[in-house]
Amino acid sequence: MSPESAIMPGSFATTPATQLDDHIASHQADPAPTLPQPRRRVLAAPEYHPPLAARTALRLDFNENTFAPSPRVLERLQSVTAADLTVYPEREHAEIATAAHFGLTPDQVLLTNGVDEAIHLLCLAFLEEDDEAIINTPTFFMYDVSVGIMSGNLRRVQCDESFAFPFDRFLAAITPRTKLILVASPNNPTGTTIAREQLLQIASAAPQAVLFVDEAYFHFHGETTLGDVGHIPNLIVGRTFSKAYGLANLRLGMLAGPAPLMHAVRKVASPYNVNGIALTVLPDALADQDYLSWYTDQVRAGRARIEATLRDFNVRFWPSEANFVLFEIGPRHAEFVTLMRTKSILLRDRSSDPGCTGLIRITVGIEDHVTQGLAALRESLDVMKWQRP
Ligand SMILES: Cc1ncc(COP(=O)(O)O)c(C=O)c1O
Repeated sequence: MSPESAIMPGSFATTPATQLDDHIASHQADPAPTLPQPRRRVLAAPEYHPPLAARTALRLDFNENTFAPSPRVLERLQSVTAADLTVYPEREHAEIATAAHFGLTPDQVLLTNGVDEAIHLLCLAFLEEDDEAIINTPTFFMYDVSVGIMSGNLRRVQCDESFAFPFDRFLAAITPRTKLILVASPNNPTGTTIAREQLLQIASAAPQAVLFVDEAYFHFHGETTLGDVGHIPNLIVGRTFSKAYGLANLRLGMLAGPAPLMHAVRKVASPYNVNGIALTVLPDALADQDYLSWYTDQVRAGRARIEATLRDFNVRFWPSEANFVLFEIGPRHAEFVTLMRTKSILLRDRSSDPGCTGLIRITVGIEDHVTQGLAALRESLDVMKWQRP
């Protein structure tokens, strides 16, 4: 075989030139060539639409850390060399360090390109077309997207107005075809939580399904099921470095679960899914507990101030265990968000989430940012002639 034919694409490599010409001509003559079609599930899946407007004001819309990551992380970043950028990023060392930090074994841990990717990988690893998945709504929209790409059978259990986890109806939604259950605690956008005992009951009620507990907002709450990893055979826990750690731009998340399940997830992950900058700073981010305590204290204090102000204005809100608060403005929700934007504060209108018409979510940041957000909130409510009690 000549070197040229060796690099030609498969079937053409052995096709004589005249036949190849005929083949190309037949395609050119086709008046309505068939275009590649995505899988039916991809066509049907919902799409995530990022905001179109620039996010140049104070970002109280995406539940990010509003300040900065640990100074130790910033210092480590200075040590990154040009040569470091040329190397494929290997997760292994960082996974060993992360597992040790959380008292897990390395085969129980997978680092991911944010929890967004982690959710996608779980769907890829565990959902067949006919399988069912369950979520409670309202919740994080990416569950809908990633499940929808694999299966058309997503069961949504709607919360009532309290946004408390609908435990009994959730249990009743489990069937023998349930293969993936996704629960965020604290939940986004409500800030409500699910007790660990209830999560463990769900896990044992559906032994054929993976229970994914999304602890993206764990640091602002404190209760976790990470200690149950390895003891509960179908439990996988997710953590992100985008929130309390302030590393949303580096895209870093973690999945922790029993080794056999994690083996399957690892198979569907790209070998270099997490960038090397994130892997380099990860041990410093984990080690700086002082920074983490400081930031989460800021959020807890800010959350209390925001809730007190909303109470003062008689604005209905849902007590939150996360770094955001959901509150009700009602029919004038869009006007309110626009007013806040004119005062350089970005908020998230959650009206399109199920059961959330007229509801707005505000991110809680450091003290100064909360002060700015509250000043704009007071002014906006005054402009709208909001009725105090
Ligand atoms: C519940 C929940 N899970 C996961 C994520 C995504 O996290 P990451 O930035 O790690 O992809 C978010 C982001 O807002 C979230 O609210």
